[in-house]
Order: sequence, then structure tokens, then C-alpha cells
Amino acid sequence: MEKIIVFDTTLRDGEQSPGASLNHAEKLEIARQLAVLGVDAIEAGFPISSPGDFDAVKAVAKQVKGPIICGLARSIEKDIDAAYNAVKYSDRPRIHVFLATSKIHMKYKLKKAEDEIVKLAVAAVKHARSKCVDVEFSPEDASRTEKAFLYKVVDAVISAGASTVNIPDTVGYTTPFEYSELIKGIKENVPNVESCVISVHCHNDLGLGVANSLAAVLSGARQVECTMNGLGERAGNASLEEIVMAIYTRRDIFKGMTTSINTKEIYKTSRLVSKLTGMPVQANKAIVGANAFAHESGIHQDGVLKEPSTYEIIRPEDVGFGETKLVLGKHSGRHAVVERLKKLGFELDKEHLDKAFDRFKLLADKKKEIFDEDLETIVDEELSKTSEEFKLEHFHISSGDEVKPEATIKLKSHGKTIEATSTGDGPVDACYKAIDKMTGSSGKLLDYQIRSVTGGKDALGEVSVKISFKGRVVSGRGASTDIIEASIKAYINAVNKIARK
Ligand code: KIV
Ligand code: ZN
Repeated sequence: MEKIIVFDTTLRDGEQSPGASLNHAEKLEIARQLAVLGVDAIEAGFPISSPGDFDAVKAVAKQVKGPIICGLARSIEKDIDAAYNAVKYSDRPRIHVFLATSKIHMKYKLKKAEDEIVKLAVAAVKHARSKCVDVEFSPEDASRTEKAFLYKVVDAVISAGASTVNIPDTVGYTTPFEYSELIKGIKENVPNVESCVISVHCHNDLGLGVANSLAAVLSGARQVECTMNGLGERAGNASLEEIVMAIYTRRDIFKGMTTSINTKEIYKTSRLVSKLTGMPVQANKAIVGANAFAHESGIHQDGVLKEPSTYEIIRPEDVGFGETKLVLGKHSGRHAVVERLKKLGFELDKEHLDKAFDRFKLLADKKKEIFDEDLETIVDEELSKTSEEFKLEHFHISSGDEVKPEATIKLKSHGKTIEATSTGDGPVDACYKAIDKMTGSSGKLLDYQIRSVTGGKDALGEVSVKISFKGRVVSGRGASTDIIEASIKAYINAVNKIARK
């Protein structure tokens, strides 16, 4: 297999996203996760830009093992020295030097002629090589650089010792065909090109960052520079997860190519980067958006339930996403509702299902998403109309400060009266134990709340309980002017729900 080197620049170009700056500890945490993700190189920062960035790059170089650790530098000695002094602690340090080569940048920004640019680039690469064996050079704004001049610069920096030459589409201006031709042109016209890796670095101003990177890979680029969640200057950089999953999913097109990414770590890394940079991921973002594996249309849900590949080209678990989400809403059909009910533990007969489905549709017209709790409430209400497994008939308790609380409860179940007595730590506990004896359930009380529904001493008390029955948690509610009776009814309500399931 031919390896496509994944060069992650989340901590450098990604951090250049307006509002996304990261502190020392956050950079380290992301770098550690990028290593777990399996990236080949981490561009950890731009050491000359601030003492804080220098320290963060140095800490990453010292503590994160596995990937190449790279620092960015302008083609200026003091930048290169700072970059080296930060990355030298890594087992695999790299210095990334850049200098603009397009007419616009040379004329307005650098105010330098072509010959001067070549000299500066060569001198910078040589200086970097005197410190570090692994040197990358980027002719900034390469995609808008005159081709003949670009070939000349690339040739010169390779001769000076650059082992990777990156061809940045700095302003996200190129298109897939044009960029792929540019890479081919470099491969065909730079004499010593085979002694270096051609890298690509695409920005997303026209939304083409990933498409351009992939087109370049097909033309022979073997390193892709990218960021998690597509973070980066302006509209961002090409997104790591999209490039990696495109190469993986379309193996038929990217024949014989592979990356070292552990795709199952993608979602976790995306969440971490989003949390620490404070940059939310849009719901419909490819691969890592909340809706990337969610289906709402009834036709799609039906298809996915029959065979996931009908509407899913990536298995959610392959990117560590968990499972396909069927969002229940007004477009959902019966098949999805039945499946969700099964997951919730309900197998309904046709009559109950028809009623529950009609109520589901009515609610879905009023509410964007129907959650599991909504569905459970609908089904519970429908079922309790016709079947109540256990009903309270009578109770008696004795309690006091010198007697052990004892409860006797009579329940009606399927026309029969059943009765049990139990002691407990308190009167409510005694009642619940007596009910457990009769119903065969063994509930663990997780939460108990009582409130008065109306005012005054004769107020109606409402008890709400949360009970775990062998790990399945259900809620119950009961009301009475007697708080023990309200407590018993709440428990029976929960027992009935679990019995229905
Ligand atoms: O976009 C760009 O040109 C860059 C270079 C520094 C590689 O980020
Ligand atoms: Zn960039």
C-alpha cells in the first residue's frame, strides 16, 4: 500500500481561526489525542510568534511521542532558530519554512524580486538543514505563483536540502482540476522532484479544500496538510476527517493508498478540538456533525433499518460515532417507531400500536423531535387505559418510634387479590418491600420526591419516584391526601410500567 502522510496543522493553522486560541495545557491535550488518532506529523505552532507558543511547541516536542513534531518559521534565521529550539526535544523534529512566491505577495507584501526570493528560500532551507535533518519548505500562495517560477523555487529548495515541499493554496483559490494539473506539472518539470515528498495544503475559501487535496493526491502528492473539523484561517483548512474517510471509503478510486489514521478515534478527537477551541461543529458537517449519521425521513429510516448501506456509506462505528440515529419526527414512518419501541422494551399488539402511532403523528406535528421519553409516555398512557397489571386495593401500616415499621398491602392483579406483609426501615420502605414480594420485582429507589399539589393541611400530596429494576430506570407517580398511599401508588405506577415492558 502507498502511504499518504497525514500532516495535522490543527495546533498551528487551525489555531489561527479567529477566536480559537488554545492555552498550553489545551495544546498538549489535543496533541496527545492527535498521536492516538495516528497522525504522522503534528505542526504544533509557530514558535517565534509568542513565548507562550514557543513553550507549548516545546512541551509537545518533549511529551508527545510517535508523530513528527513540527514548528513553523518564516525564512528568517531567528524564526528558524526559535522553531528548532522548540522542536529539538522531539525524537522526530521538523522545521517548516515558508516564503511567498506569487507576484501579488512578492510585490505588495515582501517588496522583493524573484531572484531575491530564490536566494532567501535557499538560504533559509540551508540554515534549517544545518540544525535539523527534516526540513519542509512552503512557497506560500503557490497556487497563484507563475508556474515557471514555482518550478524554479521548488527545484532550488530541494537542492538546498528540503525533504518535503508543500504547495499551499493559501487563499483557497484553486479548483480540483487546476490543482491536480499543478501537481502534475511540478512532478514533470522539477528535475529532482523524486527526492522529496510533495505535500498539499488547501484552504477552504471556495469550499474546495478537501476536493483540491484529494485531486492532488491522485496526481502524486503524498502528504496532506489538514486540520480537525476543518478549523483554520478564514473559511478554514481542508478537514482531516473528510480527507481520511474519502481515501478509506473510496478505495476503488484511491487504489492502493492508505493512511495511518485510526479512524475509530476521529469522533473523539473532533469533540475534543471543538470543546477546547470553543468552535462548535455544524450539525450537518460531514463525518463528525451531529446529523452525519442521523436519518429523519420515513423512507430513509425504513431503508436503513432493512440494510444500513441503503443510505449510509460509512459505518458510524468506523469513526467512533456510536450508532446510527433515527430521529423520530413528523417524517418518520411506522417501521422506525416500532423499532424504537422495541429498543425501549415495548412489543405492542396491533390495536395499541395503531393508537400509539396516531398519537405519535399528532405530537410530531407540534414538536420537531420526539424523544424516547415522549414515546414512553404515549405508550404508557395508551396501555394503562386497557391494562393495569397491579392495582392498590388496601393497605395498612403500623409505625412509631418504638416499633419496627410494618406494612400489609393488598393488590388486585388480573381479577385476583394478592396480599403480602413486610417490615422495613420506614413505612414507605416496608410498603415497597411488600409490593416487591407480590409482584416479583425488586426495585431500587433512586429518587423520591413529594410535593403538595394544593395548599392547606388536607392538601393532595404527589409523590414522584425513580426506580431501577435490574438497571432499567422508570419513573412513577401517585397522588393522594395520604402521603403513604401516594407513595404506594407511585411505586405501583413504576412497577406497572416495567411489567408492560
Ligand atoms: O496557507 C499557507 O500558505 C500556510 C503556509 C504557512 C504553509 O499556512
Ligand atoms: Zn495555511
